[in-house]
Amino acid sequence: MKIFLATENAGKVHEVREILKQSFADVECLCVADLPASIREKYHAEETGTTYAENALIKARALARLTDGFVLAEDSGFEVEALSRAPGIFSARYAPTDRERCEKILHAIKNVPAHQRQAQFVACVAFIEKRKGMQSPPVYFFGRRVGRVADAIRGTNGFGYDPIFYPEGENLTWGEAGEKAKVLVSHRGLAMRLAIQYLIARMSQEHKEADSIKSSSYSSDG
Ligand code: IMP
Repeated sequence: MKIFLATENAGKVHEVREILKQSFADVECLCVADLPASIREKYHAEETGTTYAENALIKARALARLTDGFVLAEDSGFEVEALSRAPGIFSARYAPTDRERCEKILHAIKNVPAHQRQAQFVACVAFIEKRKGMQSPPVYFFGRRVGRVADAIRGTNGFGYDPIFYPEGENLTWGEAGEKAKVLVSHRGLAMRLAIQYLIARMSQEHKEADSIKSSSYSSDG
């Protein structure tokens, strides 16, 4: 099975591939970077939406214009309670690099005590199918992981804000904990697991439809 993933973020690609691998033995997950240059250069997804869902759909549609088949896109963000849930949908654009983004958050809440440093990651996965030039309406899946902001950058695993995030109930940041502790239980992991359940149901429906077309063509032939 082939799934197209509308993202240019290497950290996300890696995580989504790991999650898909756990559910599908034969999945080939192609991201924007895997497409031939002539197609890749036509991929333009400007994140002008005002919600995660709108941005996920913009990315999914941008890729579905260039391919046929199952397309998944994801939009996510980091929300800090003491910053009125900033950076949120602007997480990727909050500062130029991952490290600077983490430092900017730490600086902005440097006087906020430990018990008021709540934060969460939020993800929205949009799924569309493109058949014979037609895009299906989107289906959305959401995931959230609550926790708190660390006092300093801790660990070098993962990407983005991982080194400053303690998921609830844990005393290692995602930057310290490593991929295995994060991937399936993260905001993205939770949203992706819902998307995978939907995909499994969708594929079994497709097989049934194909079988019934075959058997009706046998009976009309015979
Ligand atoms: P976008 O969905 O491409 O707009 O980017 C979301 C941004 O949120 C990423 O570039 C990261 O900065 C941040 N982010 C989303 N998910 C994660 C995560 O699992 N770990 C760390 N940072 C994340």
